[in-house]
Amino acid sequence: MPKAELHVHAEGTLEPAMAFALAERNGIALDPGVADALRSGRPFSDLQSFLDRYYACSAVLRTEQDFRDLGRAYLARAAADNVVRAEIFFDPQSHTARGVAFETVVRGLSGACAEARACGVDATLILCFLRHLDEAAAFETLEQALPFRDHFVAVGLDSSERGNPPEKFARVFARCRALGFHAVAHAGEEGPPSYIRGALDALGAERIEHGVACLEDPALLARLREERIPITVCPLSNVRLRVVDVLERHPVGRMLEAGLKVSLGSDDPAYFGGYVDRNYVDTFGALALDGAAAYRMARNGLESAFVGPEERRRLVERLDAFTDSFR
Ligand code: ADE
Ligand code: ZN
Repeated sequence: MPKAELHVHAEGTLEPAMAFALAERNGIALDPGVADALRSGRPFSDLQSFLDRYYACSAVLRTEQDFRDLGRAYLARAAADNVVRAEIFFDPQSHTARGVAFETVVRGLSGACAEARACGVDATLILCFLRHLDEAAAFETLEQALPFRDHFVAVGLDSSERGNPPEKFARVFARCRALGFHAVAHAGEEGPPSYIRGALDALGAERIEHGVACLEDPALLARLREERIPITVCPLSNVRLRVVDVLERHPVGRMLEAGLKVSLGSDDPAYFGGYVDRNYVDTFGALALDGAAAYRMARNGLESAFVGPEERRRLVERLDAFTDSFR
């Protein structure tokens, strides 16, 4: 299906082979424990155990060319999965903390997005603030980002969820919204339903990432349904990070049945065993979801993209033409 991918982290598309190649190109010695974990695909115990490896690997990304190569590799893969619109998260603070300039990161990734348009993928970026860091660091990152404001459409919030509620970044997001950026946030992945409410009310988030904790709170569920809040769910990620024990018990089927506006994303596909198509195929197999559910999710994703109404209509028409070809 033609689809949007709205939940993928650029740094999470760094395949082990590219990580080793960039480490060599840049003369960086990967931490031996991390290199070993990459080679063996050692499992994660929770979100933090993943983030530790993810940030360690991101350290091989140094130059604008590295970021362009990373973006190009992901976008080629996305094109093969018939992704027609990609909104890609990136974590500038994980790079600027190592002395890589914001400009280096954004020019590399943005360059890859510009090239991808020629092969049919309309791609853009979402700047994510790291929630384990403080408000001042987020404001500083926003200042660094402003000269490049045309290179990203939205701001987001990611990293260690528990103990870092959305309210911590209310003022940063208020400023970003005033500047005209869309806002999204990871919420209810490992954190409680109150973090989903916080993302909506304190941050003005227009989309919720993961959001699986909403099923614990009927009033919140009703609100998400009534307000048609898009939720990007990443089943393979949730299993690998032990948010959900097995794919067969993943709540996304119940979320869809409850009338939520869910679509699927790959989160960090190089780490979690599959890109977006693999998320669709495995989840639909495990939960015995049907073609109508596939259409609904693909359409939800296209409708949830940060594009104008005309472009949204064109995207949905492409999906409809595809679906009609099976009738
Ligand atoms: N950064 C990259 N992947 C993430 C995830 N699944 N949750 C929070 N932050 C992330
Ligand atoms: Zn994510």
